[in-house]
Amino acid sequence: MGEAALKQDAPKKKTGGLAGIVAGETEISAAGGAHTLEYRGYSIYDLAEKAEFEEVAYLMLYGYLPKKAELEGYKNKLKAMRDIPQSLKEVLERIPKDAHPMDVMRTATSFLGNVEPEGDDNCQEAITDRLIAAYPAILVYWWHFAHTGKRHECVTDADTVAEHFLTLLHREKPSATHIKAMNVSLILYAEHEFNASTFTARTITSTMSDFYSAVTGAIGALRGPLHGGANEAAMELLRRFKTPEEADKGIHEMLATKQLIMGFGHRVYSEADPRNRVIKEWSRKLCHEGGKDDLFAVSETIENIMWEEKKLFPNLDFYSASVYHMMAIPTGMFTPIFVMSRITGWAAHIFEQRKNNKLIRPSADYTGPEGLPFVNIEDR
Ligand code: COA
Repeated sequence: MGEAALKQDAPKKKTGGLAGIVAGETEISAAGGAHTLEYRGYSIYDLAEKAEFEEVAYLMLYGYLPKKAELEGYKNKLKAMRDIPQSLKEVLERIPKDAHPMDVMRTATSFLGNVEPEGDDNCQEAITDRLIAAYPAILVYWWHFAHTGKRHECVTDADTVAEHFLTLLHREKPSATHIKAMNVSLILYAEHEFNASTFTARTITSTMSDFYSAVTGAIGALRGPLHGGANEAAMELLRRFKTPEEADKGIHEMLATKQLIMGFGHRVYSEADPRNRVIKEWSRKLCHEGGKDDLFAVSETIENIMWEEKKLFPNLDFYSASVYHMMAIPTGMFTPIFVMSRITGWAAHIFEQRKNNKLIRPSADYTGPEGLPFVNIEDR
């Protein structure tokens, strides 16, 4: 992908936010409408039901689904990379407890770029594996230290990233249901073609910058509530309503005052987000098993109102919020979990961009004044 590939529908068409513009080619994923999203040709429905997150990570990075031995080898490799360097622990200990966890992820990624820089000995694949393996410990080490002053272990013998993260967070083995729910969530968040953070990563990569810079920039893009930050914002919204009646009243009031309802709408889908159907069922299940049918009822009420009033549908972020909440995950960690997963998609795009690189540098229509006479500073 490069600047030459940025083509507009019509020469002078207004293209706010690059909507509808094809900005390049990719072999990594295809968002094919309301009911299809494929990662390298495989349906997310099959992957979410039958695969492990590590299998999907492998698919992203190496281009094919691993055989059993390859998957075992890959999981063992990731397990061996979970601990984080002492210098990074010291940095994390200095980050205040009221910092946003996404800022922690951004700082930690950038810092790792100093102590384990990309170079001859540390290639892009190794850095990707390192980040997949280390992100759970980075987030949770900081969280526990900031909130309790305790320095907890960063390593567990958990089999998967999903189990490892939940084990570090709650300091006990998670239930099989929670491991599966987290695994599904990581799979659904792994990749989504030219979304804002991936495009950011590709843009940074296109300048021939380093891997960590691309990922750090992508984290910055993901943090905003119009992108990844929406899962956290959706939880804040859900928290406001105890009953479907309260939600009904509150959402109508918000719509009347033209407020955005976080977790709804999408730039590339017009009828539905294909990932929603999977995560919604997990929300239903976890809310029911956790005795919080009211939370699910509030969520569905909001979904119905948004469709009736605006023809807007929940995106992946909306029901992810209640899924994470039901696993007792602090709300501030919702978007960092997105990072733990999307690092795989970002990395695949960084590899792809590097393989056929062209500087990404579009043009702009200048709309300001022209030909102004220069006025000396003492005369202004
Ligand atoms: N709540 C209320 N109204 C919404 C809305 C939402 N979540 N999403 C879109 N709309 C409205 C817009 O206000 C706009 O109305 P208008 O035509 O009266 O001005 C119309 O729908 C079109 O939306 P627009 O902002 O132009 O769409 P977009 O493609 O630029 O934005 C999003 C896409 C995702 C940024 C947008 O839907 C949004 O802000 N959603 C909430 C944040 C979110 O969930 N982000 C995660 C995305 S995966």
